Amino acid sequence: QELKLNLEQIEKGGYEHFMLKEIHEQPKAITDTYRGRLLRNEAIIKMAGVEDNMKKFLNANRIIIVACGTSWHAGLVAEYIFEDLSRIPVEVEYASEFRYRNPIIDENDIVIAISQSGETADTLAAIKLAKSKGAFVFGVCNVVGSSIARETHAGAYTHAGPEIGVASTKAFTTQITVLTLMALRLARAKGTISSSEFRQHLLELEMIPNKVEKALEADAHIREIADLYKDSRNCLYLGRGYNFPVALEGALKLKEISYIHAEGYPAAEMKHGPIALIDENMPIVVIATKKGHYEKVVSNIQEIKSRKGKIIGIVTEGDEQVRALADHVIEVPETLESLSPLLTTIPLQLLSYHIAVLLGKNVDQPRNLAKSVTVE
Ligand code: G6P
Repeated sequence: QELKLNLEQIEKGGYEHFMLKEIHEQPKAITDTYRGRLLRNEAIIKMAGVEDNMKKFLNANRIIIVACGTSWHAGLVAEYIFEDLSRIPVEVEYASEFRYRNPIIDENDIVIAISQSGETADTLAAIKLAKSKGAFVFGVCNVVGSSIARETHAGAYTHAGPEIGVASTKAFTTQITVLTLMALRLARAKGTISSSEFRQHLLELEMIPNKVEKALEADAHIREIADLYKDSRNCLYLGRGYNFPVALEGALKLKEISYIHAEGYPAAEMKHGPIALIDENMPIVVIATKKGHYEKVVSNIQEIKSRKGKIIGIVTEGDEQVRALADHVIEVPETLESLSPLLTTIPLQLLSYHIAVLLGKNVDQPRNLAKSVTVE
């Protein structure tokens, strides 16, 4: 027993929980993900699974992304990236819905299945269905040799390393990294991105690990905020554009490990429902980074303030406008809008982690949840 405990201590590498270790591993995990693929000096992206099937990707009518849970959120981020950069129509589906709704799909469609474990039953079933209809299926998995990696026609691994905490963290950011590389590669092949824009993306992507490191420095400040809001019964997360899926993921993280009810919403949809919930007891996490609908999000923040909601703003370094309105701000470094989810996700992971720890919850193994869901 003692030996087992010691082994676990070693595996946690000095961190109190696997989740915290994995949050802190993200700079390295993201680097591992783009290593050998992002070649900035040559200004190219090399991904064998994409290269070998380039014709299929270029001729595809659309991409359908299937996934569950956090991987589904990565899919939503990818929808923005693929449509914006590569101009390929994308639909994102819950694998569990897709598999049972008689989807219209044929050999001109590409299905991208995203899965950390590569074992999720619904995602696997969705892949089999898509294959039976003639679609080309591409897997984005973390676990090498997993069922989904084997069942797909081609794929790209995330190289995040083992993820033990049930709440997914580094798998999410590395999934986004792989999907960004894919979108950029396809954008280049299709000519939907200029060579200078392409180079800028490569440069910015290469700087992300250092910027994640920087974002992690807010840890102690986030813990203080967590302490103030840990007894809340509800929490809202708002974001727009690329950061709308990040809001969903932030809310999921809080639900999963702290058991506080949380909802993510596109900021502009607030007025169609969630605004009714806002009072002085409601903390609202608003992703309000400088690029991407900033002014519109600021006006949402004003609406929240006039209803006395407690505002936690995720802002770009040096921001003053949101700081003047919000109860708290957490800064992340500046980057391209398309890469911002890789940074804005970090404080949300830490916020849910600290709230759960302060509440004495089992962070790495939350009740009722499993790391890999191999049954329906
Ligand atoms: C479970 C896990 C989640 C994960 C989801 C999808 O619910 O607890 O963290 O996002 O399954 O898993 P996958 O391995 O397919 O990414």
